[in-house]
Amino acid sequence: MKKFFLTAFAALFLLNAQAQTDANMGIIPAPVSVQKGSGSFILDKNVVLLNSNPKNAKIAETLRSFVATKGLNLKLVKTLVAGQKAIELTSTGADQLPNEGYQIKISSGKIKLIGKDAGLFYALQSFMQLVPDQKQAGAINIQNAEINDYPRFSYRGLHLDVGRHFFPLSFIKKYLDVMAQYKLNNFHWHLTEDQGWRLEIKKYPKLTEIGASRNGTIIGNYPGTGGTDNQVYKGYYTQAEAKEIVAYAAARYINVIPEIELPGHGSAAIAAYPELSCFPDRDTPIGDKTPWSGPRNGKQVQQTWGVFDDIFVPSENTFNFLQDVLDEVIAIFPSKYIHIGGDEAPKKYWKESEFCQQLIKEKNLKDEHGLQSYFIQRIEKYLNGKGRSIIGWDEILEGGLAPNATVMSWRGEKGGIEAAQQNHDVLMTPGSNGLYFDHKQSTSEDEPLTISGRGNGYADFIKVYNYNPVPDVLTEDQKKYIKGVQANLWTEYIETPSKAEYMVFPRIYSLAEIAWTPLARKDMNNFSNERLPLHLARLDQTSTNYWVPTAVGQPSKIINGENHVITLAAAVLGAKVYYTLDGYRPSENAAEYTQPLNINVPQGTKKVLKTIVITPSGKRSVVAETILNNGATDAKVK
Ligand code: ACM
Repeated sequence: MKKFFLTAFAALFLLNAQAQTDANMGIIPAPVSVQKGSGSFILDKNVVLLNSNPKNAKIAETLRSFVATKGLNLKLVKTLVAGQKAIELTSTGADQLPNEGYQIKISSGKIKLIGKDAGLFYALQSFMQLVPDQKQAGAINIQNAEINDYPRFSYRGLHLDVGRHFFPLSFIKKYLDVMAQYKLNNFHWHLTEDQGWRLEIKKYPKLTEIGASRNGTIIGNYPGTGGTDNQVYKGYYTQAEAKEIVAYAAARYINVIPEIELPGHGSAAIAAYPELSCFPDRDTPIGDKTPWSGPRNGKQVQQTWGVFDDIFVPSENTFNFLQDVLDEVIAIFPSKYIHIGGDEAPKKYWKESEFCQQLIKEKNLKDEHGLQSYFIQRIEKYLNGKGRSIIGWDEILEGGLAPNATVMSWRGEKGGIEAAQQNHDVLMTPGSNGLYFDHKQSTSEDEPLTISGRGNGYADFIKVYNYNPVPDVLTEDQKKYIKGVQANLWTEYIETPSKAEYMVFPRIYSLAEIAWTPLARKDMNNFSNERLPLHLARLDQTSTNYWVPTAVGQPSKIINGENHVITLAAAVLGAKVYYTLDGYRPSENAAEYTQPLNINVPQGTKKVLKTIVITPSGKRSVVAETILNNGATDAKVK
């Protein structure tokens, strides 16, 4: 117990030191510029909080509550008495700052947070991150500095799929809180899927009476052989709840973009209203990618994952339905952008349908891709008429892009590049570059079930950090169409808020930095050695789950040679690294890493280095393995 207290104390002390010495003062995402001065501002009980602008009252209150958690109660004042030390909030001068930009000026007599609206809100977020965790003799020392900051991209997004698994409002709010802390400003809410329609639509009550409920969920990795669990799984958001989320997000300068999937991923809607299908009388072959022995009785909300052939028929009835749905959607969501999906719409049913083939001829379309383009363009026209714009997944390029559409590039960067070359706005979210947060974070067998299964592919925070959303192949003019970057959290294998947190942290920190920080200011060493450990140490003291990074510096697979020097570090401040070389699984009872390991591997043999990181709160990383091989014939990567 004594040891634990000492360790916890040492970690806190380090937390304090870390924020002071780091060139970015502990801020994620790294600001555009940080100039440190000499001396410091002493935050103690004599400091007041100065705010004379009623518009900034909420920010003042948040700041006051934050400082109160440090045991200091700031008095709120509208004017200063001579000589009084203050933290001042002001919007004066903010008109000269870039959009969403802010300044923080820390001098021995005053701290000034300058910005308006989102800018001042972001100044507050940065300030709360830079305040050292430790108080000495009733005071917190904050180093003098000037910070100038504004975002690289106007769109900084995070997505959540609530179709495959449903997440409660409390979790959505927590998600938004974290987004705001890290200056992400667009929440892409994926509300409709084959496995569940999650938004109340008053004109079509069956969408949630039938479409929000499925009769089972596939067990194990898709395509599996385990069948489904035969448990009813259901959930949806009422319109009042969705509005509550919109307001909660807006208070944090986050726009909520609803996604209503069309023409594919519509099985739940079709189960509720079969006339939306080309073949209303055709049963849903549940899990049509796998041999399925289950019941085939009518249209079903899907119980397994994948892509399904039964997509919306492009009939006038369907367009009327979708327009009615979108009318209700736009009344809930003030977002300029409405996401209309457009991805993974197989053309099998359209090929088989006489109606669709006739429509292709009538409209003089080339083929089924032309029909998809016609479908999307009709929806775009409708939404443009209501003053809204569409975003679609990169499949909307096929058959011709709708005139005003923004493309979300997910199948690599190709779609984004093509769209930018056609002078269309682009949001980058390529799965191949680490932005699919449902992909696992290491190849360790300890990783939980994910969409990546047992394969070799993985995307850790380093991969995300290394991604630059602006492709080099674009001209300077075309690059301007890249409006931002987003990570997606698909939830086929994410059943709970806790697992969602495990998948999001720490990759969200890397996302924030590639979305906000100028390219020239990106610095992997500073990020992973200075700031990430600080943020994870703070997270470690909360109940939020996260992926504890494996030992930094450990080669991920196999290295050859006789003598190896391996230098390791924990990416959580105060955490310890334990290791074995004897094949046993490491724990806190194994050797503790304290200095670089010099490992000799005799000719013709191999050794396996296994490590685990254990944090101050007792959280554990997965066990990471490296094979050190010196000509052994049986050395292979699992
Ligand atoms: C997607 O991942 N189907 C956009």
